[in-house]
Amino acid sequence: MITVCLTGVVVFMAGSLTAHRHPRDTGLCNDPPIDELKRKLASNLDLNPSFYQHPQLQINVLTLDKFEATHGDMVNISINPMEANSASCSALLAVPGGLLDPCPMTYVINYDANRVPRTLMEANCTCSECQGLTPTPTQGTRPTPSILGCEPINFYTKVLRKQGCNNHVAVYVEVWEPVTVGCACRKPRPVNGTQSDSLHSSQH
Ligand SMILES: *[C@@H]1O[C@H](CO)[C@@H](O)[C@H](O)[C@H]1NC(C)=O
Ligand SMILES: *[C@@H]1O[C@H](CO)[C@@H](O)[C@H](O)[C@H]1NC(C)=O
Ligand SMILES: *[C@@H]1O[C@H](CO)[C@@H](O)[C@H](O)[C@H]1NC(C)=O
Repeated sequence: MITVCLTGVVVFMAGSLTAHRHPRDTGLCNDPPIDELKRKLASNLDLNPSFYQHPQLQINVLTLDKFEATHGDMVNISINPMEANSASCSALLAVPGGLLDPCPMTYVINYDANRVPRTLMEANCTCSECQGLTPTPTQGTRPTPSILGCEPINFYTKVLRKQGCNNHVAVYVEVWEPVTVGCACRKPRPVNGTQSDSLHSSQH
């Protein structure tokens, strides 16, 4: 089952790498040659990408939230599960040993046709509340909610994003995009609709 899904994903990803040679949007706004996009993606990396995890250095680059503020209509991310029936918190916790991780995650495919690369793989926090931290006898082994919530841990990776069109050729800009790599139990849950978490990161 999983093997079948993975094979599909590999084919899907390989397809997305070559797709730019045959632009689908014929006529109106074609992609520049893929080699040009690859060069642009690899350029200007004076600092190793790891530096851009630092909030102070992110100020100097175009992050996804800043890009979205001006070009929100060009951002169309879809998140698709890699495995069937793995997305729900309760389903995951039913797996023996699942309670050992207060913030379990699954892997998902992050797709955006307006981005190079179009396909990224990332983690998805499957539970909004941290699990198993406050066991109550009345609920037996059932996971119990905590006052803490699960928050994605991101790293920022450089991608190219379609910003517009110039003389029928798509214009791409460098954007530092958050990719979830894990989930941490650290975010105070909002109380009565008020945003009580000072750690909240503007991911999207
Ligand atoms: C957004 O992406 C979805 C799936 O990839 C697609 O069906 C939809 O048409 C897109 N919407 C826009 C406004 O581009
Ligand atoms: C990601 O996790 C959320 C819960 O935090 C869940 O609602 C959503 O369905 C998950 N998405 C996928 C694609 O698994
Ligand atoms: C949240 O709202 C409910 C109902 O309005 C109230 O009973 C409760 O005390 C509130 N909790 C907090 C922490 O303010």
